[in-house]
Amino acid sequence: MAKVYPAEPAKLNHGLLGHPLLTLDALADLAAALPADEIEYNPGKLPIGIAPEDVPASELTAVETIRNIAKAGSWVALKRIEQVPAYRELLHAILAELRGVVEPRTGAMMQLEGFIFVTSPGSVTPFHFDPEHNILLQIMGAKTMTLFPVEDEVMFSAPVHEEFHLGLHHRNLPWQDDFAQKGRSITIRPGEAIHVPVKAPHWVKNGDEPSVSLSITWRSDWSYAEADARAFNHVLRKFGLSPASPGAFPAQNRGKALAWRAMRKLKGAA
Ligand SMILES: [Fe+2]
Repeated sequence: MAKVYPAEPAKLNHGLLGHPLLTLDALADLAAALPADEIEYNPGKLPIGIAPEDVPASELTAVETIRNIAKAGSWVALKRIEQVPAYRELLHAILAELRGVVEPRTGAMMQLEGFIFVTSPGSVTPFHFDPEHNILLQIMGAKTMTLFPVEDEVMFSAPVHEEFHLGLHHRNLPWQDDFAQKGRSITIRPGEAIHVPVKAPHWVKNGDEPSVSLSITWRSDWSYAEADARAFNHVLRKFGLSPASPGAFPAQNRGKALAWRAMRKLKGAA
């Protein structure tokens, strides 16, 4: 992590295999404990061949989908797992181990959030980017993530980044076949992890087994400053200017970020 944080994608290792909070049974209980609006799932379709006793009475619930994930043809995203105390402790314990690498480079770790993805064989997560620092830890099955260069403005123009930070652009990104050559694929199996830099575009394909992954995320002084500098550039662009994009790490982008924050405060006061 020290070699790659925060700018480079990389394969890492983790020691969470066999953790009692990460079994399918525990995750089904977690799905039952989380507020319904923190669970996103696709109820899936039944396979052609299924034993009568395995056929659910009606459409699968999220809990049933997790229990049947091997054959559900489906996926479940459990969001903001830190709302359940045992998972909050787990998330904070993992992130505490990274603090010594993270904070000297990108400042305080903030908005600590965890997500768990339970997916059937072959599922695909479409091309998108995310605003958080992220490490994806593989617990069960295999997953291949193809990552693209961070903030490559040939792939996505500066206004797309600005609209994303202002909530005006969906996180899913338009795909073009000629992007493929810029991608780097990393496959992770149980015990392995991927460092996903802030806003590195990526798409994900599951292997042939059901998959469980834990995503641990945080924001930082640096990531907030980059986001706010993008937002400020959006304003400059409205005035007909062509502002320079925020600098890549280790640039800190504080000037424009402070300008945006001051403007936001004025708006709030008006
Ligand atoms: Fe993502």
